[in-house]
Amino acid sequence: MSVSAAPAIELFDAIHTARAQRRLRPDPVPEALITRVLDAAIRAPSAGNAQNWHFVVVRDAEQRRRVGALYRKASDIAEAVYKARSRPAHLTEAQWQRMLTNGAHLWDHMGDAPVLLIPCLRQRDLPAREALDAAWRDHYDAERDYLDRIRGASIYPAVQNLILACRALGLGTVITTNHLRIEAEFKALLGIPADVDTFALMPIGWPEGHFGPVSRRPLSEVAHADRWSNAWPG
Ligand SMILES: Cc1cc2nc3c(=O)[nH]c(=O)nc-3n(C[C@H](O)[C@H](O)[C@H](O)COP(=O)(O)O)c2cc1C
Repeated sequence: MSVSAAPAIELFDAIHTARAQRRLRPDPVPEALITRVLDAAIRAPSAGNAQNWHFVVVRDAEQRRRVGALYRKASDIAEAVYKARSRPAHLTEAQWQRMLTNGAHLWDHMGDAPVLLIPCLRQRDLPAREALDAAWRDHYDAERDYLDRIRGASIYPAVQNLILACRALGLGTVITTNHLRIEAEFKALLGIPADVDTFALMPIGWPEGHFGPVSRRPLSEVAHADRWSNAWPG
């Protein structure tokens, strides 16, 4: 599909149908589409407009195989954890089993996706304590905690843009984070500098299945009007 031939999809349709796609066809994805997806990613907000993101795109077959093997290794831990987890109450048994089965499929097939995307952030440090006005120096450690708390918030909006841009182009993807369990090995394989952290590993390709609709807990359970104790009426 050419970039200009991409079907138009209404934003809310994309949001409501961008379900996790873990079964992807091996067919190649045109580079222009990946560029378009990346260009959507970098339209996202970032703290202080730092735009300290980087995106490693792996298409080389041998490199994908190596990434896939590491993902499989990281997934051994996920497998043990998921075995010990019980089904969240809001998921039906069928939904839970589908997620587990498809997740397990991806453990073995990550490297088969034609594109593997790794969103990263270069670490941003605080200015030196001495550079702060004296009155604020006592706050320094709390500020460090604050920065740590919001770190992922400068890359996950870009990840959501990636997911929606893929959906708009008919491409499937899913955010995965298993690889963080052995992140050092991934960084070594991909030559990622020490001061750059990875935040996700996303397979991208033409989906085997269909898009959406995604089902979620109702707003009345998760949204609050003015105070926690008041459920959102809508
Ligand atoms: C932070 C985060 C980590 C995730 N990690 C994984 C993962 O390691 N493997 C996986 O298959 N899916 C992973 N997912 C995808 C979720 O399982 C998926 O978004 C959820 O089941 C909803 O799927 P749906 O949109 O198809 O309903 C992750 C999602 C998030 C937000």
